[in-house]
Amino acid sequence: MSEAAFTPRVFSGIQPSGNLHLGNYLGALKRFAEAQDRGVETLYCMVDLHAVTVWQEPADLRRATRELAAGFIASGLDPARSILFNQSQVAEHSQLAWVFNCVARMGWMQRMTQFKDKAGKNAQNASLGLFAYPALMAADILVYHGTHVPVGEDQKQHIELSRDIAAKFNHDYGVEFFPLPEPVIEGAATRVMSLRDGTRKMSKSDPSDMSRINLTDDAETIARKIRKAKTDPEPLPSEAEGLEDRPEARNLVNIYAALADMSVEQVMAEAGGQPFSVFKPRLADLAVDRLTPISIEMKRLMHDEAEIDRILADGAGRARAIAAPILRRTYDIMGMVSAPGG
Ligand code: AMP
Ligand code: TRP
Repeated sequence: MSEAAFTPRVFSGIQPSGNLHLGNYLGALKRFAEAQDRGVETLYCMVDLHAVTVWQEPADLRRATRELAAGFIASGLDPARSILFNQSQVAEHSQLAWVFNCVARMGWMQRMTQFKDKAGKNAQNASLGLFAYPALMAADILVYHGTHVPVGEDQKQHIELSRDIAAKFNHDYGVEFFPLPEPVIEGAATRVMSLRDGTRKMSKSDPSDMSRINLTDDAETIARKIRKAKTDPEPLPSEAEGLEDRPEARNLVNIYAALADMSVEQVMAEAGGQPFSVFKPRLADLAVDRLTPISIEMKRLMHDEAEIDRILADGAGRARAIAAPILRRTYDIMGMVSAPGG
């Protein structure tokens, strides 16, 4: 294994927590599917071991993992070209995570804003896993020598920690073994906001189902949610600058642009000056057109659990084939004695 030149390899993970929505599709799934068309090796992981850092009902976790896999495939991800798998099937993630628990420092972990947010006031009662979460995340990426990590802005701090862990390992053992992975942050146009409040992200945890379009919504529900989306009384401006102080209008234009694969400027050239009574039905038609095939395919796959499980097992086997030699070499660098010929 060459230790200095790293072949570009894309890795990303999503927690299986149910309720996939338009934000997940435009901000993650669609982009992940596009990355596989650029000829780079791509690995996408349902991170079930991360999910259980907070309590998960077993039946819900099982269902959410399969639903996420179905969402990936329905969004255009080709399991023959990308490696699609769930984390717990590849033991090397946990094994390298232990090593990284010994590389990372308590002080680094204490600075993580996601831990502070998730642990809340009662940090003493948070799981040890929640505290160590970023070391497992570093292992997810580095057990494949992953170089590029598409994530949302909120994960940037964790990727920086992965770089710190890789750099400290390399430094402590005097090797150039792990690459320093780079975050690939989603663009503003793919940050989808709530349909009820243009200043908040569309989110699965929003109590109002009207705030988001779920990937399992049928055509009628999608159209109704867009019709009822919050807007202001003005027609659309004729130029993109006119959207600056109009978060709801900007969100609908951004969604249109992302679904139509157009730039915001192109949408404005076409739809500028239209009242929402004209623009919303057009957006609804477009959304139904793009999302219905996804929801149909997701439902089909969800009815075929055996097919999903087979795809995940196949992905796990291919993932392990990359991870096992990297873990073995890591142990060797550290001075762990291995079985002869092993
Ligand atoms: P989450 O549902 O927060 O676990 O996020 C899963 C993936 O979807 C991550 O890559 C997020 O960055 C992305 N994502 C979640 N919500 C949105 C949103 N409203 N707009 C764009 N991307 C999102
Ligand atoms: N922490 C990420 C999130 O909550 C999910 C994740 C786990 C991940 N391991 C990863 C993302 C590795 C990218 C690379 O969204």
